[in-house]
Amino acid sequence: MEKPRAVLFDAYGTLFDVYSVALLAEQLFPGQGQALSVLWRDKQIEYTRLVTTSNHGAHYRPFWELTRAALVFAVKRLVGPMGPLGATAPFDTQIERLMNQYRSLSAFPENHAVLRELKRRGIPTGVLSNGDPAMLHLAIKSAGLDGLLDHVLSVDTIRKYKTAPEAYALGEQATGLAARQIAFVSCNAWDALAATWYGYQTLWVNRYQLPFEELGTTPTRTGDNLGDVLGFFS
Ligand code: LAC
Repeated sequence: MEKPRAVLFDAYGTLFDVYSVALLAEQLFPGQGQALSVLWRDKQIEYTRLVTTSNHGAHYRPFWELTRAALVFAVKRLVGPMGPLGATAPFDTQIERLMNQYRSLSAFPENHAVLRELKRRGIPTGVLSNGDPAMLHLAIKSAGLDGLLDHVLSVDTIRKYKTAPEAYALGEQATGLAARQIAFVSCNAWDALAATWYGYQTLWVNRYQLPFEELGTTPTRTGDNLGDVLGFFS
């Protein structure tokens, strides 16, 4: 396999620590923080699949809106009933605080150094994410990753979420490379799997010692932090 000529990263869960919201969730809903942040994340991804696979995308909504809808669902499910569809009282304040936290997630500690090292080696980098452009730019800025990523690719331009092939194709279009010449890095096993199926060289960063998806395909590489991406180039 040839060495990749560019590296693309998933954003949420890979560059940005989505479970860092669990701490605030725990303060706001004592005893439920961990469960709430996990259900929030799972529901958010479920909603991306629902709108992508139903009615030819007629129900597409940007990731920020799906993220909020998923949070409202998780609070209703775990904390207690709220009013009718879309209503968030009596938890308006908590929901707004969690959404604000999501706006400016922290980066995992090794990320800056890894991105700087790729830059030093002249390897183009980018984000390929479900996040909408406004979310992504704000997250990159607040995590201090400004200037360290050459491409910020959002599926919002095609209104189809990963794992639609059109979403992964954005990486090829932006870099002018074929998927097999690009390393795609994700902490989400489903994302690493679908990117492998699409044709990318992949690194699954298994931060939480989880099993990989049991669907017969393994990622090109597995690591436990973002630094393992450098293994493609040694
Ligand atoms: C993303 C989600 C899947 O950034 O983490 O695309």
